Amino acid sequence: IEVAPFDLIVFGATGDLAHRKLLPALYHRDLDGQIPADARIVACSRRDMSDADYREFARQAISEHVSDIEDEALSRFIDRLSYVAVDAAGERGWSELASALAGREDVVRAFYLAVSPDFFGPICERIGAHGLTTELARVVIEKPIGKDGESARKVNAAIGAVFREDQIFRIDHYLGKETVQNLMALRFANALFEPLWNAAHIDHVQITVAEALGVEGRAGYYDTAGAMRDMVQNHILQLLCLVAMEPPESMDADSVRDEKLKVLKALRPMDADLAARTTVRGQYRAGASAGGAVPGYLEELDDPASQTETFVAVKAEIANWRWANVPFYLRTGKRLAARVSEIVVQFRPIPHSIFGEEAGAIPPNRLVIRLQPDEGVRMQVMIKDPGPGGMRLRQVPLDMSFAKAFAVRNPDAYERLIMDVIRGNQTLFMRRDEVEAAWAWVDPILQAWSTLKEAPKGYTSGTWGPSAAIALIERDGRTWFEDLI
Ligand code: BG6
Repeated sequence: IEVAPFDLIVFGATGDLAHRKLLPALYHRDLDGQIPADARIVACSRRDMSDADYREFARQAISEHVSDIEDEALSRFIDRLSYVAVDAAGERGWSELASALAGREDVVRAFYLAVSPDFFGPICERIGAHGLTTELARVVIEKPIGKDGESARKVNAAIGAVFREDQIFRIDHYLGKETVQNLMALRFANALFEPLWNAAHIDHVQITVAEALGVEGRAGYYDTAGAMRDMVQNHILQLLCLVAMEPPESMDADSVRDEKLKVLKALRPMDADLAARTTVRGQYRAGASAGGAVPGYLEELDDPASQTETFVAVKAEIANWRWANVPFYLRTGKRLAARVSEIVVQFRPIPHSIFGEEAGAIPPNRLVIRLQPDEGVRMQVMIKDPGPGGMRLRQVPLDMSFAKAFAVRNPDAYERLIMDVIRGNQTLFMRRDEVEAAWAWVDPILQAWSTLKEAPKGYTSGTWGPSAAIALIERDGRTWFEDLI
């Protein structure tokens, strides 16, 4: 379905995000016929470049990241691009940008700030000062939104001084992933799960977002953030919200976001003592990944003193009726044994066994939602082992692999999200209060860590993180779900 005509203005158009994600995503949407004939993309960055230079940059970016390019579609897409050299925090280029946009006040105008967060405020200020905000204007920003609650409020205030909340699209690209949206379909388009989706029937939930890669040339940013700010504050808490929220009234943006906000506010607050008992920080050491030897984080960073965590495990609790005493074990890290993201919902054991063995000896049902790779949903159930030999029980997966079930290309999260910006649909974007509520839970943990001054626990690259993360869950008589690879 085509969207309304638009101008998309991309700041940071020569950066990594534009190169890897935005240009390929826009090309795909164009190929699928979703981009109207007179839609335009205006690329901005500090570099001096002509339209032709930028078009060449874009052609290379798309060729590098997209297989099976259709030449005609690529040329059509490239023709939509133009370039203006703009100083995000200076005056150069702004009047040229204003003339490029003049006369198009009646079409959707989306400013995509693919730049360091330090520039969010200055760019918005200049967009305002040059009168570039129209009724149909919107602004798109990426995390990190602040490095704690206070700085996030400042960033939000600077953007809010120019744009209304319904014009601000805060991207959490995990919300654009197909399987993440599927979580909502699974929960709310099936009658099967919702009656069981509570503390009476669920023992605990595990959310794992494991990466095999290290910091990959982003050490400068990463070292100021660490896994808690980079992954937990946003992606992992968003996943937790989608698992834990009450059914929203509708898919309307505020209905969904109101419910997610309630979950964030119900997270049991951490203090130093609780954080010391229920959080683990790790940092990767040299080891092996994808068959080759890899250096440790400190060597990559070339700073032997860094205490930044590249791994976090947390036992989180949601203090409300639905989830009382149902721990949510969260873990994420770089240079782990595999790239795999999964949500595991473990149900309670059966109350009584008629099969001779103890009820507790029969593995409980598990719903495993695989976000990536090999997207799919699996339900672990017990059956009778086929054949003679009496009533022997066996656990088997009821398996639905999306790749096998549907022969369609799995669109990248950015394709969906960019089109939602143009459509003005904020359901998959974070509202200001959500971001701030997430920080309100994260801040005391960061605080506790900095007070404790304990170095992160080392773990060998290519493993599942420090042994303390295993102890964290085993102390409660549970284990991390191991079929991850
Ligand atoms: C980003 C983080 O938000 O998400 C990165 O900044 C991380 O550090 C990435 O690698 C993971 O995203 P994906 O889509 O590859 O799981």
